[in-house]
Amino acid sequence: MGTVIAKKGDVPTGGCISIDGPDGKEVALFNVGGEIFALDNTCPHAGGPLGEGSLEATIVTCPWHGWSFDVKTGECQNNPDAPAKCVKISVKGEDVILE
Ligand code: FES
Repeated sequence: MGTVIAKKGDVPTGGCISIDGPDGKEVALFNVGGEIFALDNTCPHAGGPLGEGSLEATIVTCPWHGWSFDVKTGECQNNPDAPAKCVKISVKGEDVILE
């Protein structure tokens, strides 16, 4: 059983937020056209908060040094060896659930 970490309505369409999940884990949530995706909030470059970046379509740009990541796959567009970590979530009704 997962843990409800946010409400879908907390994440603006076309935008992102970062939240404190269980066990001190920070999670970045992204709303791409009404579909929610999640990455570890910690940017693999130097630890910037990905959920405070800017989202364009499925690509988030880190607010610290501008590396960009695909929120669906974690793929890094600047360094293929440094993907962001995908976080497994599900959405049930309004609940965003960390699996
Ligand atoms: S910490 Fe994210 S680009 Fe540097």
